[in-house]
Amino acid sequence: MLEPERIVRLEQDAVVLLDQRRLPLEEVEVRCESAGALADAIERMVVRGAPAIGVAAAYGIALAAAQGEDLAEADRILRAARPTAVNLAWALDEMRDDPSAEHARRIHADEVERCRRMAAHAAGLLTPGTCALTHCNAGGLATGGFGSAVGALVTAWERGLLAQVWVDETRPLLQGARLTAWELEAAAVPHTVIADSAAASLMAAGEVDCVITGADRIAANGDTANKIGTYSLAVLAHHHAIPLYVVAPTTTLDPSTKDGAAIPIEERDPAEITTRFAARNPAFDVTPANLIAAIVTEDGVHRTPYTRSLAAVRVTA
Ligand code: MRU
Repeated sequence: MLEPERIVRLEQDAVVLLDQRRLPLEEVEVRCESAGALADAIERMVVRGAPAIGVAAAYGIALAAAQGEDLAEADRILRAARPTAVNLAWALDEMRDDPSAEHARRIHADEVERCRRMAAHAAGLLTPGTCALTHCNAGGLATGGFGSAVGALVTAWERGLLAQVWVDETRPLLQGARLTAWELEAAAVPHTVIADSAAASLMAAGEVDCVITGADRIAANGDTANKIGTYSLAVLAHHHAIPLYVVAPTTTLDPSTKDGAAIPIEERDPAEITTRFAARNPAFDVTPANLIAAIVTEDGVHRTPYTRSLAAVRVTA
C-alpha cells in the first residue's frame, strides 16, 4: 500500500501532495508553499477524499504557523475549499489549540490507524466468495493511507473472503476507474471497472453481494453524504436486497448535523462535465440512513437506529 507520506506530507517550506488528478498515468507531486496555495489544490482536487483533505488542511495550518501567517485567515480559506466533507472542518478545529507540525503529523497517523481498525471490523461483514461493488475512491489516496472502504476490501481479500471487486468508474472525474483500480491493482486484489450505469444489471444477475463505500459526512441520524451516485447505488441495492455498508472514521461523523437535508452539497464547475452545453455538477448526494445496512467506524459496526448507535461513538483524536 502507498506510504502515507507519499500521499501528503509536510516539509520545511511546503505541503507536498501526490497529484491525484494525474494518476494513474503519472506520479507527480505538487508543492503548496502557503495555505492559500493548498486551499487552491484542495479545491482543484490535487488531493481529495474526506480524511485526506482534513490531513492536508492540518499540515496547511502547521505550515502557516511556521511561516508566521495569519492563522485565522489560513483557517478561513482552507475551511472554504470544499464544503461537504466534515473532516476538513474537524481537522481545522483540532489544529486551533495546537498548530504545530507534530500535532498535524499525529492527526495524519491517527487517521491511518483508524482506517486499519475500521477495515478489520468491516471485513468481518463479508463471507467467503463475496463479490463487492465500490464507488469513487475510499482508499489510501482518499484517507492519507490504508483506506476506509478500500482498506476493508484489501483486508477481506487477505482473509480469503473476497472473490472480486466491481469498481464503478465514478463519473465525472473517474476516481474509481483511475484511483481505486490503481490501488486494487497494487494490492493484487481482483477487480473489474464498470460504467456506473452497469451496476443495476449486475445486481439483477446476482453478481453483486454487497456495496461498500466511504463517506464525506454522516449526520446524527445516519444519513450519509458521499460521492454523487452513491444514492442511486443504495436504491438499487435495496431493490435487489443487497446490503450497502458505509466504512468511515469517526472524524466523518457530524453529530451537529441532524439529518441529510442539512448537509451542504458541493456544486462543482459544470466544465468538469462539458464545456459545450449547459451542465450541472453536484459532487455528492445523500443516502438516507434506512438504505444503509451498517456504518462501520474504527469503533466497530453500527446498526440502525443510528441516532442511538452513533451517539455512543466519540472522535478519538
Ligand atoms: O470528490 P471526492 O473525490 O473528494 O469524493 C470522495 C468521496 O466521495 C469518498 O468516497 C469519500 O471522501 C470517502 S474517502 C475515505
